[in-house]
Amino acid sequence: MPKPASPVENDQNGDLQPQDTFEVELAHSKLTLTVPPGKSILEVVRDAGVDAPSNCEGGTCGTCEVAVLEGVPDHFDAVLTPAEKRAGKSMMICCSGSLSKKLVIDL
Ligand code: FES
Repeated sequence: MPKPASPVENDQNGDLQPQDTFEVELAHSKLTLTVPPGKSILEVVRDAGVDAPSNCEGGTCGTCEVAVLEGVPDHFDAVLTPAEKRAGKSMMICCSGSLSKKLVIDL
């Protein structure tokens, strides 16, 4: 009997779950970075010398929003609507993580 489809599982990404450590590829900067536990994508991006705008750094202003080109974000912001979060086309990199092992973002 076939396994029922999970809402957070698909062929492209396998089993999706909150990742402690994940890769983030910056499409424009051509960098692939590792986001370790306890660090935000924004911090890792800046540590790599890439400038990214921010303001609140707490998920409430929307300044750090970037487009997601691949992968599935794990949203922790208060900016996107539930429908936008489900769509997964953009994310706040100051506070959100990843459900897939890798994200490709428009930076
Ligand atoms: S800097 Fe305000 S939501 Fe990320």
